[in-house]
Amino acid sequence: MSNIIVLSGSPRKGGNTDLLVDAFVKGAEKNNNVEVVSVADYKVNPCIGCNSCFDREEHECFQQDDMQIVYDKLKCADVIVVASPVYFYGVSAQLKAIIDRYILL
Ligand SMILES: Cc1cc2nc3c(=O)[nH]c(=O)nc-3n(C[C@H](O)[C@H](O)[C@H](O)COP(=O)(O)O)c2cc1C
Repeated sequence: MSNIIVLSGSPRKGGNTDLLVDAFVKGAEKNNNVEVVSVADYKVNPCIGCNSCFDREEHECFQQDDMQIVYDKLKCADVIVVASPVYFYGVSAQLKAIIDRYILL
């Protein structure tokens, strides 16, 4: 039994990414604790590249926004599953902001 956090990376609720996430959750929750964190529910600023997180305890960003809530959820995860729409050959901007702000050293 693992704690699985699913990062759902589409700002469009109920779209293709959420459909995929729902199918994953349906299977995974049979043997695991699963929580979905949708980027549509959080306002996370982009990383500004100051690198001050390298020196901070637990490496959290100095910016005080919804990423503080996301940090708490990710910290409890044994497994992080990432789902994203393709936005110009990459992940969505909302998901990229979370990835950039989540530094594990
Ligand atoms: C800003 C933007 C950029 C996109 N760029 C691509 C792309 O580069 N390649 C692609 O195949 N689809 C691209 N798409 C289409 C989305 O990946 C596709 O519609 C996806 O299923 C949307 O996910 P959603 O339903 O969860 O919002 C783009 C869509 C948007 C809104």
